[in-house]
Amino acid sequence: MKNIMLVFGTRPEAVKMCPLALELMKRPSVRVKVCVTGQHREMLSPVLSFFGIEPDADLSVMTEGQTLFDITEKVMRGMRSILEKEKYDLVLVHGDTTTAFAAALSAFYMGVPVGHVEAGLRTYDISSPYPEEFNRTAVDSLSLYHFAPTELSARRLVSEGRQEAGVFITGNTVIDALKTTVKESFSHPALDFAGGRKMILLTAHRRENLGAPMREMFAAIKEVLSSHPDICAIYPVHPNPAVKKAAHEVFGGFEQVKLSEPLDVFEFHNILARSYIALTDSGGIQEEAPAFGVPVLVMRNTTERPEAVNSGTATLVGNTFESVRRGLSNILDNGSVYSAMAHAANPYGDGKACIRIADIIEKGYTEI
Ligand code: UD1
Ligand code: UDP
Repeated sequence: MKNIMLVFGTRPEAVKMCPLALELMKRPSVRVKVCVTGQHREMLSPVLSFFGIEPDADLSVMTEGQTLFDITEKVMRGMRSILEKEKYDLVLVHGDTTTAFAAALSAFYMGVPVGHVEAGLRTYDISSPYPEEFNRTAVDSLSLYHFAPTELSARRLVSEGRQEAGVFITGNTVIDALKTTVKESFSHPALDFAGGRKMILLTAHRRENLGAPMREMFAAIKEVLSSHPDICAIYPVHPNPAVKKAAHEVFGGFEQVKLSEPLDVFEFHNILARSYIALTDSGGIQEEAPAFGVPVLVMRNTTERPEAVNSGTATLVGNTFESVRRGLSNILDNGSVYSAMAHAANPYGDGKACIRIADIIEKGYTEI
């Protein structure tokens, strides 16, 4: 019996790790424990509830306005005491959050092998996204098992010197998640708000965008929408106080942008599937929107997910007033630009990533 622990703590990690936890739980030769760090609180629990996952441990690290020091220190202390109590054969972490970094480092210090789900993503710019590019590179460097979502990410890992035998192309588990969330029939007040208008789904939260860039991005969106009365936006605001402040200051009282609390993942995926455009600095939404043929404008200067850009459904529009104004106007004013982007493309797998990862863990990983 292999003793496996999955560790995650933020909303996107939960969306992508819960389907894997459920798949592993079906396997008789694997004993699965789930430890959440609680790096996110309100945004994490609805995802756990949706997938029906009850964590075995919760480090409850979140504080308002937490720093990277706070998260790293608390996760490492919590993980140390968990790993001292029981011996694990494998710790699985996901992606590029500080939870993933600190949990992987803790396992490494305790001599427990680490498996990295969504391995091999890179911008090769340590400042963008910050600190995620460091986190994922560091996790890859100490992991023994790399579950790469695409061929490109797998090739990168091998070219960086990771053992080929430990690099597996699995697809991204987010596609598995979409299979369980998106329904034919769906109603929601956000869709009623849009009425007959075309709806943009807007999100923003990146640390490097906080402050002036975020205000510029929002001001540009407001200016462009003001001259396009047939377009509206639904914006579930990230609870980070710095994001909330900017969102309410720029969009407060502006009818074309509906601010809301974060949406449950079921609601978010169904609204995304029915949106005209996604406008975001998110990582995961760059994977989800293309699967629905929804063009994504990425309010960043770099992306670790070039597959969606190469397939034509995503484009980088930067994070300045002028670049966002230009990028958004371009797609809204040029039907040909829109239709060239609005085709379903899914470079991230066939929705069977969890099965592949579980198969490797169950049967294959001891061979490395
Ligand atoms: C974190 C990850 C980022 C990921 C994002 C997904 C790091 C450094 N950042 O960024 O990679 O893209 O999650 O959303 O790992 N807050 C709440 N309730 C919540 C969650 C957050 O109130 O449920 C507020 C708190 O004030 C918290 C702040 O948001 O201090 C920032 O949260 P944090 O996890 O530090 O950063 P994110 O921007 O969410
Ligand atoms: N998401 C959600 N509700 C929201 C906004 C996003 O459930 O109000 C989901 C989204 O579908 C995706 C994930 O959260 O699965 C992306 O999270 P985020 O953009 O915060 O993080 P990133 O992917 O950039 O790390």
